[in-house]
Amino acid sequence: MNIRPRRNRKMSAIRDMISETHLSVNHLIYPMFLVDGKGIKSEVASLPGNYRWSLDLLLPEIEACVNLGITKFDLFPAVAEELKDKTATYSYAEDNFYLHAIRAIKERFPEIALMSDVAMDPYSSDGHDGYVENGKILNDETLPILAKMAVAQAQAGIDIIGPSDMMDGRVGVIREALDDEGFTDVSIMSYTAKYASAFYNPFRDALDSAPKSGDKKTYQMDPANVKEALREAYLDEAEGADMLMVKPALCYLDVIALLKANSTLPITAYNVSGECAMVYAAAQKGWLDYERVMSEMLLSIRRAGADGILTYFAKDFAKLAR
Ligand code: PBG
Repeated sequence: MNIRPRRNRKMSAIRDMISETHLSVNHLIYPMFLVDGKGIKSEVASLPGNYRWSLDLLLPEIEACVNLGITKFDLFPAVAEELKDKTATYSYAEDNFYLHAIRAIKERFPEIALMSDVAMDPYSSDGHDGYVENGKILNDETLPILAKMAVAQAQAGIDIIGPSDMMDGRVGVIREALDDEGFTDVSIMSYTAKYASAFYNPFRDALDSAPKSGDKKTYQMDPANVKEALREAYLDEAEGADMLMVKPALCYLDVIALLKANSTLPITAYNVSGECAMVYAAAQKGWLDYERVMSEMLLSIRRAGADGILTYFAKDFAKLAR
């Protein structure tokens, strides 16, 4: 044997030099759940270590995360059932606590990149991302609602809009609405290839946002498909997206790699609630080493081609990386 690959692995001094993939807290976006009220920190049962925060307690928590080096946050609202309706009017209402929180967070931490979600589900009495009539999710009727929501978030000071609804044409409509209102600097990170996945359940528990009937298969993608992801990517690029997201991440590493190879835009991946919940559960049982498994997962997502990763592991990883 004149060729022995193990020679390049024999000591960490060498391994560290030839390591191809780098992961740091700079790559991470921390998703957090917000609830109206005061003094609330209520744990999401299916996502231990993650909480629905009221703004007063969220602000110091964000500060703690900023001190750990986290600079990007994605905020999701848990909306009271009585505020939900068919057209998600609360999503752009004057007194919306989510919009108020965006304002307060950006005032206190102007340097962080704050991302929002644009989709009807947290505000919809039907629990769908789009407008529902006779059991159908109507695409074009949903678009102006999404545009209003995005403009309201921009007015509150959001840095990055995250359309997660998978309606056709929404990136273009949102871009135009933002530009018309003068928000040409507000970015769009499109949920480009968002699959109809079983891995979102803990998130839907957190927001109490599960569909009241049916499923999301007429708008979210079929897990069997990959060419379609490319089609969505081309459309989002043409409509003016700044970054393309793949979601979930771990079962879709091939999709991340495909978009990375076929787009000049930054690619992000959402390491979703169910993916993190599996690790929390196995670690609680002592079956897996939490820190090593979490780090390996995040590294794999980076290796597949993701520039940024949305992950509930962000704070724990930041602590570990210190
Ligand atoms: C809402 C939305 C969902 C997630 C992000 N935005 C849930 C869904 O589409 O049902 C899932 C995130 C996660 O599971 O961590 N449109």
